[in-house]
Amino acid sequence: MQELLKVSNSRMALPIGEQSIELLQAQAHVLNSIFNYVNSMSLKCATQLGIPDIIHRHGKPMTLQELVDALQINSAKAQAVYRLMRILTHSGFFVEEKISGDDTNMGYCLTQASRLLLKDDALSSLPVLQILLDPIFIKAWHHMSEWFENNEDSSAFETAYGRTFWDYGSQEPRMNHLFNKAMASETQVVTNVVTRDCKQVFEKLKLIVDVGGGTGSMAKAIADSFPDLQCVVFDLPHVIAGLEGTKNLTYIGGNMFESIPHADALILKWILHNWCDEDCVKILKKCKEAIPSKENGGKLIIIDMIVGNKKEDHEGIETQLFYDMCMMVFTNGRERTEKEWAKLFFDAGFAGYKIVYELGLKAIIEVYP
Ligand SMILES: C[S@@+](CC[C@H](N)C(=O)[O-])C[C@H]1O[C@@H](n2cnc3c(N)ncnc32)[C@H](O)[C@@H]1O
Repeated sequence: MQELLKVSNSRMALPIGEQSIELLQAQAHVLNSIFNYVNSMSLKCATQLGIPDIIHRHGKPMTLQELVDALQINSAKAQAVYRLMRILTHSGFFVEEKISGDDTNMGYCLTQASRLLLKDDALSSLPVLQILLDPIFIKAWHHMSEWFENNEDSSAFETAYGRTFWDYGSQEPRMNHLFNKAMASETQVVTNVVTRDCKQVFEKLKLIVDVGGGTGSMAKAIADSFPDLQCVVFDLPHVIAGLEGTKNLTYIGGNMFESIPHADALILKWILHNWCDEDCVKILKKCKEAIPSKENGGKLIIIDMIVGNKKEDHEGIETQLFYDMCMMVFTNGRERTEKEWAKLFFDAGFAGYKIVYELGLKAIIEVYP
């Protein structure tokens, strides 16, 4: 009877007007935008359960039952695991493959994206997921409209917590630890490319300072690749506390708004996008005091995003816009176009700049006194 009903219903499906189609599509767009967090939260849950690592260790397509057994959860939750895996397969984190050639049984495999979420992978983005989806960070987004309406706070993060992102980090060791780990992991990928393909940037230099260099993952890799180059990691005292240098790597604590150690060249990776234009000019002026003239080899090596450098890459543009919003909500910073970068350099008294390498959405910009 039900079958009959279905057949007669499907015969009754008549075309609907253009206006109604548009209305329904608009509703779907609204719903998908509202539901965007379902993707993030499902992914976070899968990593908390260790699913990418479990499938990786399994070494071949893993059936749902094998996954449920390995998760050591109540088998009544098998349906829920299936539904979690279904959405993450849809969003490109897993694929289903045949267990063996002639088999009809399917099992889950990793994709390139989920491989970047393995715990012990050198290039893992897991720490970035862990901090950006931590309740500390999520809370700031709930204060965004309140921040728009007040004139006191520099960012929604400050509206949420009554202190800036950097003050919060210096007072809360858990956040300091999570943030430094996330930065170090994000840096691994860029460092990999820079030390392999962008060696020319470091030629003829004897001493460099990585300003705001975090726990030193970039400087360490540079120090290893160029044993004759002295590298200094300069960051806030609580960030570098307890870290030990090597033969050609040292740590110095301080505040870049006050003074920066002198060097032939300064690296500023992922620094200026954290600050508003006024603060960037202050930092850049301090940088200028710390390096020799262009004739004597002085330069800044800025590694940051250039908005609009990948006009044809829709996903890339979205990533840049996401980062820009994060900078606004967390730190009062912003992502900049080339024109906006140029204005900062000239306002700080620099004579010229050159985009020497493009690194996906980021670039290496050399800035000359
Ligand atoms: C976005 S992180 C970038 C870290 C590192 N350059 C990287 O790319 O992985 C910004 C860094 O700037 C540091 N920082 C913030 N305010 C600073 C200040 N006033 N003086 C020195 N470093 C500061 C932070 O502690 C943090 O390590």
